[in-house]
Amino acid sequence: MKFFVDTADIDAIAELNDLGMVDGVTTNPSLILKSGRNILEVTKEICDMVAGPVSAEVVALDADAMIAEGRKLAEIAENITVKLPLTWDGLKACKVLSGEGKMVNVTLCFSANQALLAAKAGATFISPFIGRLDDISVDGMDLIEDIRTIYDNYGFETNILAASIRSVAHVQDCARIGADVMTAPPEVIKKLATHPLTDAGLDQFMKDWAKTGQKIL
Ligand code: E4P
Repeated sequence: MKFFVDTADIDAIAELNDLGMVDGVTTNPSLILKSGRNILEVTKEICDMVAGPVSAEVVALDADAMIAEGRKLAEIAENITVKLPLTWDGLKACKVLSGEGKMVNVTLCFSANQALLAAKAGATFISPFIGRLDDISVDGMDLIEDIRTIYDNYGFETNILAASIRSVAHVQDCARIGADVMTAPPEVIKKLATHPLTDAGLDQFMKDWAKTGQKIL
């Protein structure tokens, strides 16, 4: 499973990228707001740092304006993925932009039928939002499972990009089900390295080592 990092925070991306943990980046208007940066400038910096796909989201709501914004965003760098909302106009824009050879990430997907439409419109990535479904007491992981089954049934090449990942359990479930990619905030990716038994074991080893009175260096 590929790891995308869901942020526009350059320092956080750099730290994970140096460790080889970043296969791509996703941003959205809320993350751009949080960064306090200009979308074109910060996205360019991210694209220069990360080799994989970098999603930048359009903010227009009608297809023609989405297409124009998507073309402008795609000029930033070769690894830009134009992010479009899963609306009828978003699907129209997806068809046009993917037909031009641009990578497209269709976002805000909350049903398997929406994912089916995105695949038929030529999306490179479909982004089902797990956490936001969990927020309304719907199991987001069922959606990932359904999309996996449907895409496999018909051989769709659209990549399932599990989004709105809020916990380490989400990451593990996505990997088990077979999501192609997951995008998570940097804190969640770093938390994957932690386990209470690792902490407890290390604590005991340090105490016992101190008792030996030895040094390695
Ligand atoms: C994905 O592309 C979105 O930017 C993101 O995963 C949304 O996550 P949230 O629901 O935690 O805001």
